[in-house]
Amino acid sequence: MKYYLTTPIYYVNAAPHLGTAYSTFAADLIKRFKKMEGYDPVVLTTGSDEHSLKVERAATAAGVNPLAYTTKMAAEFISQWAKLGIDYDHFIRTSDPKHHEMVRWLFERCTKNGYIYKGSYTGAYCVSDEAYVNDVTPGEPCPQCGRPTETVTEENYFFKLSAFQKPLLELYEKNPGFVKPDHRRNEMIAFVQQGLNDLSITRTSLQWGIPAPVADHHVFYVWFDALISYMSAVKDDNLWPADLHLIGKDILRFHAVYWPAFLMAAELPLPKQVFAHGWILHEDNKMSKSRGNVVRPGPIVDVVGADALRYFLLREITFGQDGTFSYDALIQRYNADLANGLGNLASRTLTMIHQYRAGIIPDSPGAADIAEAARRTTELTMDAFCDFNFSRGLETLWSFISAIDKFIVERAPWKLGKDTSPQAQNMLDETLYSAAEALRILCAWTYPVMPNSARNIWIQLGMRIPIESITFADLHWGRLPAGQKIGSIAAVFPRLDASAIVKMEHLEVQEKARQAALFGSGKPAAAPASDGAGKITIDDFVKVELRVGQVVSAERVKGADKLLHMKIDIGEEQPRTIVAGIAESYPPEEMLGRKVVIVANLLPRKLRGIESNGMIVAASLEGGKPVLAGFLEDVPVGARLK
Ligand code: MSP
Repeated sequence: MKYYLTTPIYYVNAAPHLGTAYSTFAADLIKRFKKMEGYDPVVLTTGSDEHSLKVERAATAAGVNPLAYTTKMAAEFISQWAKLGIDYDHFIRTSDPKHHEMVRWLFERCTKNGYIYKGSYTGAYCVSDEAYVNDVTPGEPCPQCGRPTETVTEENYFFKLSAFQKPLLELYEKNPGFVKPDHRRNEMIAFVQQGLNDLSITRTSLQWGIPAPVADHHVFYVWFDALISYMSAVKDDNLWPADLHLIGKDILRFHAVYWPAFLMAAELPLPKQVFAHGWILHEDNKMSKSRGNVVRPGPIVDVVGADALRYFLLREITFGQDGTFSYDALIQRYNADLANGLGNLASRTLTMIHQYRAGIIPDSPGAADIAEAARRTTELTMDAFCDFNFSRGLETLWSFISAIDKFIVERAPWKLGKDTSPQAQNMLDETLYSAAEALRILCAWTYPVMPNSARNIWIQLGMRIPIESITFADLHWGRLPAGQKIGSIAAVFPRLDASAIVKMEHLEVQEKARQAALFGSGKPAAAPASDGAGKITIDDFVKVELRVGQVVSAERVKGADKLLHMKIDIGEEQPRTIVAGIAESYPPEEMLGRKVVIVANLLPRKLRGIESNGMIVAASLEGGKPVLAGFLEDVPVGARLK
């Protein structure tokens, strides 16, 4: 029986961080676990969500076309997932023509069934979240991310979401497992019970998107586009519907309300389950690029390995709830659970087999109480993993490790080894076999979470069949072949000290700089060529990036009468620092909240020690004071002047 699961497809305007890597780790775990359960094929899709205003703006700021930009960024995701050992089958890019075709096809099915109509929308829009925001006046902060919303008025195609209130409530009722965990399901029920507004699913103001199959220029709203990628990825593989969409709680509504409604409208089968996990917090907040508190996985992997990071995140945080990442906690858990726990059990068991039995697994049925503990451990871990409660499953496995440790200490093989009586030697065989068989079972169970380390111990145990091919049927006690020669022994989790943290932090700074160069900066605009008569071409003019900005803070620069030091929001992740010589005409308090025109792609320049990233456009009157350029009508922050 097949099992098809997906991660969210990631926005490409930021590189993966621990928050975004979390869904992917969990999906990789579930894929391996489902294979061990016997599903075949088990197929995992991940990918990149490439159409959005944010991406369009980031590409423009980088001086490249959006496709060139997203191609580079998708490649960065692919290389990061390889570094983290993610075993996915499909990487779908929303810029892929096969996806475009699928989106248009689905739109046409919804249209044919009467669920699409043309209407007009005016209201607040959050560029950052790519979503219209209800209940706020344009310009007010977005309730989700806190950034200012913008006014949008558009003729759009609408999807009749309102028609799906009843069918959705029926779906949640009839299929209680559709949204997990249960408290998230209750949230969705409450949301849908309040009534559903129709959803605008096209935009006219964007170029970078999938053109809708309609007469005028419309591109699809990023969520209508993105969700369909789960189907496009497996278009010809007969895998739809998905068995599981794994997502973060912030995008549950899109998956548990909009997505099934789109599919119902198109008369297509619905996914079986949507599981929303919680957030990784760092320094008390959701880890996110806009908050500037991200930790990148690469440096951690370089120091402690991908497996230790995966183990930490899945053991430390109850899947479905929020949890905190810190380097300290990572190292503590690594030493306690991996170096002293599993790693120590492996090396001590293998060393004793080497020492007392010349590296050959002894012939013994093993101790009955340990066999029973192993059976019970498998049963409990299976329940926990089937429920996606990985931390409970791992806790169960580690209790078993403690039980084996205790058993070894009680049996004291070092004493039995010195006693040549048949009784003592039988007891020694039983002890060694039990420890080794427990280790084999632990390898199999930890493989979905820590594939490389589990494989490593598996090979040290001398196992011949590849760990990738085992199923839970192979876990019955006694399947470890007596007479098997163990492999060469090497520590799997060497102990770490505080210097590991220093190393990770150091590498993090380097990785941050590498990614900033990759994602942020493009080629600096070349000097405009002129025709000799001072005229430039339109192509030269468009190299100057003029944007609408809004002043968020302003203060005088000490010792410089003319200079104002401002933070100006031009719709980017962070407001820009701009220093301008306008203080004589414009006191700081007059600038607050004012909309101005910014040259956004100037190279940075230092003024009185402050790095200014852009310039305010003003009329410069002969001998007079500057007069700022402005607008008579309201304009959204970040809009480009052309
Ligand atoms: N592109 C959309 C998803 C479209 S799916 C059809 C998107 N992308 S995202 O890159 O912003 O986020 C991708 C996933 O990462 C989401 O599931 C989100 O919840 C998750 N996370 C981002 N930051 C996170 C944490 N700090 N912690 C845990 N998960 C978080 O949304």
